[in-house]
Parts: sequence; structure tokens; C-alpha cells
Amino acid sequence: MSSALLEVENLNTNYGKISILRDVSLTVGAGEVVALLGLNGAGKTTTLRSILGLTPPRSGSIRFEGQEVAGRAPYQIARLGVGYVPEGRRMFKDLTTIENLQLAENGRAGEWTIARVLEHLPKLAELRNRKAGRLSGGEQEMLAIGRALVSNPRLLLVDEPSQGLGPLIVEEVYKILGELKAHGVAILLVEQNALLALKIADRAYVLDCCKLVYSGSAADLRADRERVRTLMGLTEVTV
Ligand SMILES: Nc1ncnc2c1ncn2[C@@H]1O[C@H](COP(=O)(O)OP(=O)(O)O)[C@@H](O)[C@H]1O
Ligand SMILES: [Mg+2]
Repeated sequence: MSSALLEVENLNTNYGKISILRDVSLTVGAGEVVALLGLNGAGKTTTLRSILGLTPPRSGSIRFEGQEVAGRAPYQIARLGVGYVPEGRRMFKDLTTIENLQLAENGRAGEWTIARVLEHLPKLAELRNRKAGRLSGGEQEMLAIGRALVSNPRLLLVDEPSQGLGPLIVEEVYKILGELKAHGVAILLVEQNALLALKIADRAYVLDCCKLVYSGSAADLRADRERVRTLMGLTEVTV
């Protein structure tokens, strides 16, 4: 337990007076891919925002490499090695691919230089001078991943990478996530498409109305379609 990269314990987060997360506890080990699943509105994005300090929790502990980070500013948490690929990608649409990457370099030294990111994501190299606003959804998702990588994170928080993308592009994006895993980057992966995320995840958590309702092996959950259906309601459980 104490060797985990990220340890979240009894996280309680509110928006105003409304309680969104209640006693959420989860861990991500070094190099592990952990899926955080749940229906729309379950609190997945709020969990990531709490970890990053964007929506600071009301109570609870968030330790990164053993260090308490709850209550710290987002830039301080990011600087420790936590990268973020936000829902909806959120890039500077009037800046080119390469300019978006340059802005994301934050001086955290490591193996992921811009050159290396472009080598790993050759599509971005081809599109280096195109404005981000003119990229397709899949290309923007890749840029969002590349942008997070140049800060050399030990842990990537990825929010709904498949959202709004066609099946072939989704496959490409997941291939990249799989390669990052092979390179030792730990990933906390939020998805509504449970079966897709469970394919590359080692472990999984399911959130339902503020609370965790499943915590365990990704493979076990994936093998039990009935359980996925029960936990995730009647959303698509295809792929
Ligand atoms: N900025 C906000 N202010 C008030 N309520 C919010 C805000 N963001 C999200 N919520 C509410 O918090 C709940 C969880 O949202 P969210 O974490 O975005 O869920 P998910 O990512 O699982 O779809 C939802 O009921 C949503 O309406
Ligand atoms: Mg969300």
C-alpha cells in the first residue's frame, strides 16, 4: 500500500453545498493502468480535478510518492509529475501543434522531449505546423496526450479519451496509451466505455453517485459482462 505512486484516501469533494464524492479511496501503483469507470455524472472528472488540486477536496488525503498534496496548488502538483489529458482536449486552438507542445514544456527533465514525443506520435510530426483548431478529434486527442508527455509525468490522468471519436481512431489512441504503459508511465484512465478501458487496465474502480461500488481486477470485471451491465447501467458495453 505505501509503495503506491498515488494514494487517495477518503476523498470528499463538494460543489458548493452539494456533496459529489464521498469517501473515495483509490491507489495507482508505479507503471500501473487503473480504470476509473462510471456513468455520466458519477463523479469521475471531479475525482481527477480533486487529485490535481483544480477542485480541492473538502477532506481526505492525496499522497503522491508518499507526499501529501491535498490542498496544494495545481501547478505544484503537476510539477511533482502528474500529467493531465482533460476531457474535451482543451488545447490552444489558434496555436499550431508544435506551439502547443512548446507551451507545455515545463522544465521537468526526463526522456520525453518534444522530439521524442514526435517520434512516438508521428502523426503529430506531420501536423506540426497545423493549428490545433484544424485538427480532427483523434488528432487533438493525440496532441493532448503529447502535451501531457512533454512534462515527463510519472502519472497521467486521462479523461474520456475515446469521447466523440470513431472506432478506428479510438483504437489508435488506445494503442498509444498501451505503449505509454509499456514505457512505465502509470495511467489513471477515466472512461464511460468500460470494456474498452478494461482491456488495457490492470485494476478498476467503478463510481456510482459519489461512492465506489467496485474495486478489483480489471480482467475479472471484464470477464463478467453481467456485472459490468449491472454496475454501469444499460450503457453500451460493446467493444
Ligand atoms: N462545476 C460544477 N458545479 C456544480 N456541479 C458540478 C460541476 N461539475 C460537475 N458537477 C456535478 O457533479 C457531478 C459529477 O460530475 P462529473 O465529475 O463531471 O461526472 P463524470 O465525469 O463522471 O461524468 C454531476 O452531478 C455534475 O452535474
Ligand atoms: Mg467527466
